[in-house]
Amino acid sequence: MVSTYNGSTSIAKITKCIYTVLSAGMSVFLPRTHICHKESNMLRLLRGWLCSGKRNVCIGKGCVVTSMAKIDEGTTIEDYVRVVGHITIGKNVYINCFTMISGEVVIGDGVLISQFVTIWGRAHRFMNRDLPIWDQHGKHGITDNGYDVQSVKIGTGVWIGPQVTVFRGVSIGDGAVIGAGSVVTHDVPAFAVCWGVPARVVKYRQSEQAAAQKA
Ligand SMILES: CC(C)(COP(=O)(O)OP(=O)(O)OC[C@H]1O[C@@H](n2cnc3c(N)ncnc32)[C@H](O)[C@@H]1OP(=O)(O)O)[C@@H](O)C(=O)NCCC(=O)NCCS
Repeated sequence: MVSTYNGSTSIAKITKCIYTVLSAGMSVFLPRTHICHKESNMLRLLRGWLCSGKRNVCIGKGCVVTSMAKIDEGTTIEDYVRVVGHITIGKNVYINCFTMISGEVVIGDGVLISQFVTIWGRAHRFMNRDLPIWDQHGKHGITDNGYDVQSVKIGTGVWIGPQVTVFRGVSIGDGAVIGAGSVVTHDVPAFAVCWGVPARVVKYRQSEQAAAQKA
């Protein structure tokens, strides 16, 4: 009995081991399927550590993160995100799938960025019609490769909804909320809730105390 018990335990262990190795391997090369619906967290943490040198940073599959990017502890970047340029990302930031952050961008602590968001800290120069747009290089030379760079600043605790575009040079104040599908062309004050194309301030978030006084 004892030997049978040990035997089945070993088989279970070996099977589990093979399954773990296979699913970790597949999760690198294949899209998520019913076989490996969740990529191993260890892999995401390993990528995070390699990209940032910080603890508790998770980076999903298919991401592009340039070496100029600085990412702080506790941040999660989901699959297929591009972080390209002089980007600084604070602590405990969450960036959802298929988002693109490019140019010069500073993102504060605790920011939530939804899926399919584009944040552009740069744009092509285009006014000279005698030159192809691609040839209208910026004064910073090769590093910004034809772009007009103006930093985007996103304060702490901001929530940016899905499919939002943030233009170059925009500052979004602490605690602001940007509604789905907005195009943010101007600065947004702290705690403002705004949406639309172009995004306009619709209301302000309230403290619990102010809400209780109104009620
Ligand atoms: C930020 C957000 C939640 C604000 O919602 P809210 O303050 O509760 O606003 P309401 O839903 O009460 O809408 C109020 C009005 O503004 C409109 N509105 C709300 N958000 C809008 C937006 N992003 N774009 C255009 N109009 C919007 C509504 O249609 C409504 O109009 P009506 O009064 O004519 O019916 C909302 O803009 C948003 O982004 N929702 C999507 C959330 C989402 O995708 N979550 C999952 C991913 S993280």
